[in-house]
Amino acid sequence: MRTIALSLVAVLVLGGAAPARSAPDDHAGAIAALADMRAAIAEIVRIEDGYAVGHAAYLRAAHRAMNALVGRRDDGYAASFGDPGDGVGTLGHLDRMLDQTGSSQWTPAVQGAKANVLAAAANLQSALGQKQMEDYQADLTRALASLALVAGRSTEGGVLGGLNGALANTSLAVPVGASVVSGCAAPKSAPAYGVVAGKLAYVALPRSAAATAIPAGLGVSRVELLGDTVVLYAPLARAAAASCSKVSRLQRTRVVARTSVPAPYVAAQAHAGIKVYARACLQCHGADLQGTAGPGVAGTDFLKNAQQNKWTLSELRTTIFENMPFSNPGSLTPKEYADVTAFLLAANCYPAGSTPFPATASPALKTVKLGPIPGVKPTNAKLGTCTVR
Ligand code: HEC
Repeated sequence: MRTIALSLVAVLVLGGAAPARSAPDDHAGAIAALADMRAAIAEIVRIEDGYAVGHAAYLRAAHRAMNALVGRRDDGYAASFGDPGDGVGTLGHLDRMLDQTGSSQWTPAVQGAKANVLAAAANLQSALGQKQMEDYQADLTRALASLALVAGRSTEGGVLGGLNGALANTSLAVPVGASVVSGCAAPKSAPAYGVVAGKLAYVALPRSAAATAIPAGLGVSRVELLGDTVVLYAPLARAAAASCSKVSRLQRTRVVARTSVPAPYVAAQAHAGIKVYARACLQCHGADLQGTAGPGVAGTDFLKNAQQNKWTLSELRTTIFENMPFSNPGSLTPKEYADVTAFLLAANCYPAGSTPFPATASPALKTVKLGPIPGVKPTNAKLGTCTVR
């Protein structure tokens, strides 16, 4: 039993062919923030339950709880009292998660958690100044109430759900390197995390290991057996499914075709898009754009598939601007999205023109059909892709 659990954890952490990403691991950050918070709570609870203690012991407990919450880099950190946590502090972990550009489905929950950590720290600060035992204890009780909100409950989304809510309901549940699939369809393999527009729809686990490998913090509203796979649906699975029908409605929009070879971007955009792709897309779509954790996004197969699905530039734009990066939709600037889209078009051998790919939605995009372009010579004849410079 034990071996299975351990090897499955290894798969969950290392699974998928995606290379390690350079961005900090938000999933691990949330777990570490909760661990520091638990260390702070333990200090408070221990002193409230104890008998043989004097003023010095109370001060020490409040300082140590504070240290675990705010971390070494904060002014409130008092090194001489020691640190029951990891030194980064709940606040340090949350700030790292919030520091990245753009926002995620989990951003409001983390912002709410941060506000409650600050409230608890203020209560502890006040406790340190108290002369009467009752006043000290009242401050500590308030601190504990704020910390309960930082943790939150796994059954709720949003701010009230706290960190546990975000770990149960959003892409924050996905550990770095785990395989991420579209939560709009049933899983084809396990282990995998099904995500839609930043919301967690399900976690798929191999049946043999499911009992021992349910990720910590995961809330489960429904369980389904699918052959040898156990699918654990998240509390917000239905909300996630609603986003799916919105996307497919967009993709079903009928379009007018244009016959001449389109040139929908300028060369400088495609060049700028190389870096955006490497940073935000490569981990799932691969260095040769043939796909790893996600599908291929350039070349013969991609273009044929796009043609069959009657995709226009408008659908491509919606997919990229609104649903990508899959793990953090909407997290790039409009310019970065336009650049990376230009890069993909160039890699698909679309010629550059004189009109930039627009950073905002444009009805004209509906008139440009995607598909193999007659008369171009791909740099890579086998894949059907063109090198972008
Ligand atoms: C965490 C993994 C991940 C990252 C990062 C990511 N994608 Fe995706 N991408 C996916 C998955 C999974 C799908 C399939 C989604 C679906 O079918 O609903 C997908 C689908 C796509 C598609 C549609 C392909 C098709 O044939 O259906 C395009 C285009 C695309 N991504 C572009 C991008 C771009 C551009 C970026 C970077 C800005 C990016 N992706 C970042 C995982 C990722």
